[in-house]
Amino acid sequence: ESAALLKAIIENAIDGIITIDDRGRIESINPSACKLFQYDPEEVIGRNVNCLMPPPDKELHDEYIERYQRTGKAHIIGIGREVKGLKKDGSVFPFRLGVSEVQYSGRKIYTGFIHDLTREKEAEEKLKDHA
Ligand code: HEM
Repeated sequence: ESAALLKAIIENAIDGIITIDDRGRIESINPSACKLFQYDPEEVIGRNVNCLMPPPDKELHDEYIERYQRTGKAHIIGIGREVKGLKKDGSVFPFRLGVSEVQYSGRKIYTGFIHDLTREKEAEEKLKDHA
């Protein structure tokens, strides 16, 4: 059955996958994203996605979503961006964020794809040190 297949794909994805509602509330989070951010699903479901980011984005993220919904002008949707995530232990890490907008049973949700860049960034730094 295709719903079970989709669930298996999301559960086993290497990248983190988070869905939010149109006000930024987390509705689902896959195991990869849980591991990256160091939370269990029940600790973050229902909370604002801004709990997973450091300032200044933390304070501005509601506005980002509102502005997009008001103007239709995307800054990340369909583009992607390198941003910083905030883990439960307070440490910050770089990742590539992709966001898509999904119309699901009559309402709008957003899906975020999280590709950890910690290793790539560390390798870059090492190369710089040797230069
Ligand atoms: C917009 C940061 C996670 C959904 C943005 C923008 C930034 C940002 C910088 C656009 C700012 C601008 O206007 O130039 C972050 C950071 C995250 C994060 C640091 C770290 C956790 C997420 C996740 C989702 C999401 C997981 C979805 C599940 C959105 C939406 C917009 C947005 C819907 C508005 C549309 C757009 O600008 O294209 N975010 N975000 N964000 N973000 Fe996030």
